[in-house]
Amino acid sequence: MIVAIIGGSGVYDPDLFQTVEDSLETSFGKVTFYRGFFNEKEIIFLPRHGKGHSVPPHLINYRANIAALKALGVGRILATSAVGSLTEELAPGTFVLLDQFLDFTKRRALLFDETEVKHIDFTEPYCLGIRSIVKEELEKMNLNYSEGCYVCTEGPRYETPAEVRMFRQLGGDVVGMTNVPEVTLAREAGICYACIATVTNFGAGISQTPLNHEEVVEVMDANASKLKKLLANALPRLQNEEKSCSCPCPKEV
Ligand code: HPA
Repeated sequence: MIVAIIGGSGVYDPDLFQTVEDSLETSFGKVTFYRGFFNEKEIIFLPRHGKGHSVPPHLINYRANIAALKALGVGRILATSAVGSLTEELAPGTFVLLDQFLDFTKRRALLFDETEVKHIDFTEPYCLGIRSIVKEELEKMNLNYSEGCYVCTEGPRYETPAEVRMFRQLGGDVVGMTNVPEVTLAREAGICYACIATVTNFGAGISQTPLNHEEVVEVMDANASKLKKLLANALPRLQNEEKSCSCPCPKEV
């Protein structure tokens, strides 16, 4: 099984494994990614925001990214993401394994072919098979984690305190700008997908100070060694263990 890691804010360097830069032209555009070997098996690392974090959340070519991973034969994606917390109970540094999402994006491509009449089931948005492996590894490592609901905003601005209060009341636990449509396109492509988020800050209004991207990257850097260890422990299992989930079967993109 070819596994891909999608690196979010603060996770740019694929130095867990020796990789070489490569690129692929898809019908949605060109994607630059990194190929390498881990545990003697091929692995793909894709920095979501492009090289050097050059693409903002609302301009990421999500369709090209997932189409490229599909074309490369990827069967499982473990994504990483930096998120703000919607509750005082989830402090910066906590890992959150996503289990649901609320979609507040506004103007992103939603399907590979938007003219198609297609209604995909999202009762279980994140692959239960990948989640159970990651959960076991989080527990073995004794890491502070929670499972939770991700609110995806359009960005690129941070939220107002009123939005943070609303998102919390609606059932959100963490907020970010990139998980939708990444997760939905992966499902459409038939690739099992899960996301391990890192809380980098309290949401606006909970935080005592204004938010900024540097703070997000600082907390990600501070947590980087734990995240890398977690990936290193989960990867061989993701590569070798048979699928036991009920995510829909692959289809051509
Ligand atoms: N809001 C939106 N996206 C984020 C945040 C936040 O507070 N922190 C990290 N990504």
